[in-house]
Amino acid sequence: MQELPAAPQLVSSTQLDSGLLRVCPKGQAQGPVCEPGGRSLGRPRPSEAPPCSRPRAAAGSGQSSRTATWVRLERLMKVFVTRRIPPEGRAALAQAADCDVEQWDSDEPIPSKELERGVVGAHGLLCLLSDRVDKKVLDAAGANLKVISTLSVGVDHLALDEIKKRGIRVGYTPDVLTDATAELAVSLLLTTCRRLPEAIGEVKNGGWTSWKPLWMCGYGLTQSTVGIVGLGRIGQAIARRLKPFGVQRFLYTGRQPKPQEAAEFQAEFVSAPELAAESDFVVVSCALTPATKGLCNKDFFQKMKGTAVFVNISRGDVVNQDDLYQALASGQIAAAGLDVTTPEPLPTDHPLLSLKNCVILPHIGSATYKTRNTMSLLAANNLLAGLRGEPMPSELKL
Ligand code: NDP
Ligand code: DGY
Repeated sequence: MQELPAAPQLVSSTQLDSGLLRVCPKGQAQGPVCEPGGRSLGRPRPSEAPPCSRPRAAAGSGQSSRTATWVRLERLMKVFVTRRIPPEGRAALAQAADCDVEQWDSDEPIPSKELERGVVGAHGLLCLLSDRVDKKVLDAAGANLKVISTLSVGVDHLALDEIKKRGIRVGYTPDVLTDATAELAVSLLLTTCRRLPEAIGEVKNGGWTSWKPLWMCGYGLTQSTVGIVGLGRIGQAIARRLKPFGVQRFLYTGRQPKPQEAAEFQAEFVSAPELAAESDFVVVSCALTPATKGLCNKDFFQKMKGTAVFVNISRGDVVNQDDLYQALASGQIAAAGLDVTTPEPLPTDHPLLSLKNCVILPHIGSATYKTRNTMSLLAANNLLAGLRGEPMPSELKL
């Protein structure tokens, strides 16, 4: 008769079928589960398994090994993870003795058909911003699905109306990535306004012939007006970092004025067109919603100053990229720095990539080792808390 290990840990991953790994708590997933008489039941099929409480540990608990065997019979909850995730999150899931965790074992996105296949019968889904969780996926998952935990603060990839209708809880990762993303936004802004990629290119290609008064000049932050589209967590963190550069005036736009948050920067609430017209630097840090989709379009760029620099770290769809291309190519605005695009990755022959005054990064706002690890742990803890009916560390209010 098998006994439950006192402290399950990740020790093994078994190849199930193409691309799928099962992450197993030690001593649990590999062998069969036994009933009191010792007959092998096999592992409960996840699709049959209702949510259960966390199994009690037998070792040192004063329970008999027979009791422990009965505990082993409690059904496991199926968790489906759509990608390899950083170690801290992975370890937290592996230690969850009440979960049977399957993971798409790749650093690349799971194909939608595989997602629909993998999610069948799952109680919990841990997904990434590149996974579109729509009605089809929710239907495929079925009635077991209780929690979706996304490894992102952005939730535009989730069909929130459908999710709410089905009573599914959603976890996400706010706050823990705010500093890293704001840091990247400021780096991208400086890189763009001071033309760093172009300047580095000139050093390498022999274009650097001498020190010339107007060669490689850009635009500086001192005495400037910065307009922030979406003064949320990241927008505020960006403003906080930009202030010491000598910014004279902050403007912001959003759904409504936020006097408390704005006070730190004496930021003025204005309409989007006003912000476009008056800013030397426009930084987009809002959520992608139906209201913000295409917000930065031809009209918006036409209102911007010819010397202004546009930066987007939110989502590609907030920007009409054709309009942005025209604005940059015609010199209507000075430059743009984008950490996000539509699609992602941007095809290497995309017209925006042919422009010297457009700096494009591959969506690396939160990409520090520490941040990504912390995000993965938060996403795992959100998922586990949701499955156990406990308060999640970061639950999206639907
Ligand atoms: P918050 O929820 O704190 O901020 C979102 C902001 O969007 C709020 O200020 C909100 O304004 C604003 N907003 C909502 N609707 C509109 C609208 N119609 N017009 C203008 N602004 C609007 O989220 P975070 O700051 O934590 O994250 C913001 C976004 O940044 C994420 O949703 C994600 O898409 C993106 N992101 C990108 C990263 C990257 O790697 N590049 C990393 C992390 C996040 P209001 O306060 O008025 O509601
Ligand atoms: C998010 O979290 O929404 C970012 O885009 C990636 O960190």
